[in-house]
Amino acid sequence: MPDVSGIRRLHRERFGQEPEVFMAPGRVNLIGEHTDYADGFVMPAAINFATLAAVSPAADRNATLFSRNFNESVSLSLDLIGEHGSHHWSDYPFGVLSVLQQERISVPGFHLTLDGDVPLGAGLSSSASIEVASMLAMLHVAGVELPLPKVALLCQRAENDYVGAPCGIMDQFVSCCGAADHALLLDCRSLGYRLAPIPKHLSLVICNTMVKHSHAGGEYGTRRAEVEEGTAILRRHRPEIRLLRDATVDDLKRWGHEMPPNVLKRCRHIITDSNRTVAAADALEAKDLATVGRLMAEAHASYRDDFEASCPEADIMVELANKLEGCVGARLTGGGFGGCTVNLVESNHAAQFAASISAAYEKATGIHPEIYQSRASAGAHKVGQDVVVSHR
Ligand code: GLA
Repeated sequence: MPDVSGIRRLHRERFGQEPEVFMAPGRVNLIGEHTDYADGFVMPAAINFATLAAVSPAADRNATLFSRNFNESVSLSLDLIGEHGSHHWSDYPFGVLSVLQQERISVPGFHLTLDGDVPLGAGLSSSASIEVASMLAMLHVAGVELPLPKVALLCQRAENDYVGAPCGIMDQFVSCCGAADHALLLDCRSLGYRLAPIPKHLSLVICNTMVKHSHAGGEYGTRRAEVEEGTAILRRHRPEIRLLRDATVDDLKRWGHEMPPNVLKRCRHIITDSNRTVAAADALEAKDLATVGRLMAEAHASYRDDFEASCPEADIMVELANKLEGCVGARLTGGGFGGCTVNLVESNHAAQFAASISAAYEKATGIHPEIYQSRASAGAHKVGQDVVVSHR
């Protein structure tokens, strides 16, 4: 969690006004990958790495932003917010503003300071956390309150339409609605969710392979297109299949031969991973950790072999984790093609786990990884004046 009093001070120094501060966390996904845009199930948790957005109203009709991370300021007239971004960090806040304007929410001129500690491009949803924190800040100056699931949907729209990344709803949703010490099982069709407690004696250890990924275009979009191609083939036989959420493994057995082999594999991953996700939530609630670990291992294999969204470094990181004492489950998390692995580790082994995996990974790949000892944390909210926020 970045420094709350620090961002207040920075905002005061730069803009001469006392701000309100909003925070929105990044996330780690325990299981259910690329299933969100197929209306399936996902089970992420919000983490104790977040973006803070400090906001105050301005006298003019400009949106003036300052990013502490990029040490850069940008200002744009409210009347000149377009519909597409320019591949700049300001795309996220401006995208959010654009969507609010489309919703006819009248946001007045404002000053916004951003500061975050979610590692960028690591698959931990730094983008969603910037969007959600920015949206709460802008809603505040507009004097409008929206339910958090609605905030999540609008932030997803900003990312899809303005930033140009074809993501699903998972990241923005859990950044909004996550809860301390819980994973969130989300039905991406109804947006109904239930919170599954992560047992107190387990830590979330996140291992950054340091292999960068990017969602705008690239492999993420290719996978999504393959999934849509397979869905269209199944729909020819069963018109009620809107998305893969509506399809079964039996459907694939009957009609999968009509698909190109890669498309069949992608669809098999989505259908089986969504099923595994529901089973993992049940197992977590029943404290059946052996089953949670087995499902995470199957999910990683499916992501690697059927979805082909892993990379050699992530496979090495997962293999190493599975050999270490105290590891309950390990898999690649997030959009794929790099980023981080998520590891459920018995807390009394977590420090040793982190040290051992760091050394072994560096030995195997020549890359020095970053290891984050994390815990499931609260979703987005306003940060009180003198509250010392400790999500760690
Ligand atoms: C990214 C996207 C999400 C989701 C995951 C894969 O994080 O933003 O919507 O599709 O990849 O599960």
